[in-house]
Amino acid sequence: MSDHYFTARPKTAHRPGQVHVLLPDVHLELDTDAGVFSPSRLDTGTRLLLDVDTKPAAGGDLLDLGCGYGPIALVLAARAPAATVWAVDVNERALGLCARNADRAGLANVRCAAPGDPALPASYAGIWSNPPIRIGKQALHALLGSWLPRLSPGAAATAVVQRHLGSDSLQRWLAEQGWDVGRIASRAGYRVLRVTRPDAPGPGPSGPAGPPAAPEAGS
Ligand SMILES: C[S@@+](CC[C@H](N)C(=O)[O-])C[C@H]1O[C@@H](n2cnc3c(N)ncnc32)[C@H](O)[C@@H]1O
Repeated sequence: MSDHYFTARPKTAHRPGQVHVLLPDVHLELDTDAGVFSPSRLDTGTRLLLDVDTKPAAGGDLLDLGCGYGPIALVLAARAPAATVWAVDVNERALGLCARNADRAGLANVRCAAPGDPALPASYAGIWSNPPIRIGKQALHALLGSWLPRLSPGAAATAVVQRHLGSDSLQRWLAEQGWDVGRIASRAGYRVLRVTRPDAPGPGPSGPAGPPAAPEAGS
């Protein structure tokens, strides 16, 4: 039986592979494995996110929420060498790959961590995510509801979501929660959403950050 990509400890037999991330400014060779998200090729949504929006703040703490084997986190780290990039995932196999990939690429500013890791900062100068839509709407809302309030004032979160997996309804839900949310790119059925705090103070997203969502324990 195969695991979901968001299983904490995949039991799927190992099948090592490699994915090449070739961007105008960053070239990476990343190890992948069975039991993690998109192990045989760079996901189309991830590629769109990397193409349109990964100009991170030069320094501070940045978050890749749901890092998988690390393509987003490592590109952020390469583009912002003075920043610390927190690569968070529930999948231990993915976290191991992400750490090994960062090490091999010489990106010492990547920290791979489980969501409950006490070392995780309380706030972030930017959040990027190809979020785990397949955990279900309720769990996804809880996940975003626990991490987005950790955006520092003036910071933005950027997420890529497939249209047929609910990008438009996610955009509506985020707006209902009081976030400013806009679509900044669209390609091949994927949308890139940019989420910021509203200018006016008020309830909803400006509330205190809750604890990170509990790790998904598998299926
Ligand atoms: C769509 S994949 C994206 C992976 C990687 N960022 C990429 O672009 O290839 C979403 C990731 O979110 C992770 N995930 C699922 N639930 C999570 C949670 N509660 N907290 C953090 N990450 C989670 C999954 O294990 C998976 O690796």
